Amino acid sequence: MALASRVESALLAAVDDADTPDAPPLLIKALRHAVFPGGARVRPQLCLAVAKACGDDRPAVSDAAAAAVELIHCASLVHDDLPCFDNAATRRGRPSVHAAFGAPIAVLAGDALIVMAFERLALAGVAAPLRLAPLVGVIARGVGAPGGIAAGQAWESEPNAPVDVYHQAKTGALFVAATMSGAIAAGADAGPWGALGETLGAAYQVADDLLDAVQSAETGKPAGQDALLHRPSAVAERGVTGALARLNALVEEAVESVPHCDGAAEMRALVRHTAMRLAPKQLVRSVA
Ligand code: IPE
Ligand code: IPE
Ligand code: MG
Ligand code: MG
Repeated sequence: MALASRVESALLAAVDDADTPDAPPLLIKALRHAVFPGGARVRPQLCLAVAKACGDDRPAVSDAAAAAVELIHCASLVHDDLPCFDNAATRRGRPSVHAAFGAPIAVLAGDALIVMAFERLALAGVAAPLRLAPLVGVIARGVGAPGGIAAGQAWESEPNAPVDVYHQAKTGALFVAATMSGAIAAGADAGPWGALGETLGAAYQVADDLLDAVQSAETGKPAGQDALLHRPSAVAERGVTGALARLNALVEEAVESVPHCDGAAEMRALVRHTAMRLAPKQLVRSVA
């Protein structure tokens, strides 16, 4: 099955499992709204691509890792859009979860998605118990403190947030979780895959800052937010041209950081393909 279809099936199974007759209907609707239809699904596809490059001998485990990473990403967006964070009314071209269901349900939906992520690992990990603990560890590191998403969002409450540290925590950490969990799910050494997640995650956030700054209509979410909310950003630090140069450098670094393996050429192509989708099209056109 193509990676994208595997991702959608694994996510659907996770949300369907929560959808029982005794569940609170609004919460279940909010969970579905948060996960479907998806956005780029970059992180889970990256996770599965790494698993494939490492042999993918337990596809059910790599599917669970990919689903876990994307469920956490969706949760992070639900929480990020809340009035107490970015106060965004739209996400993926439709009302954000709090705009559609109210803030209390949005907080709970985000919480439930994070817990659901670890439940997927627990369910699939029964068949490969030695992989379960490292999987939980590597994904948990991407979510919490000191360096995961929670820490990344917390930097916004500090007076002096170093932009690279902030970006690494709020975005890079989950990309690292994606690459490393893909390797672990396939029974491989995860260490060599960390740098790819880190550099691709850094590139992804620089691209997101560029999209925000050039007020791209491509994103389906409010633009101009970083300046409005005084967030540290690659554009605030380097300007548009500097940020674009940084994006290109990070993509090259990501390509170079693909470890030696049977699927290395395919993986490099995927990194470049992902990178092509990153940059704001109007900017790439104007530079070309
Ligand atoms: C948005 O991530 C938040 C960032 C960390 C840049 P994505 O751009 O991957 O969001 P979706 O999943 O495609 O909507
Ligand atoms: C989002 O950062 C990173 C998360 C952990 C959710 P942003 O606030 O910059 O992302 P968008 O632009 O709203 O997607
Ligand atoms: Mg934010
Ligand atoms: Mg935001």
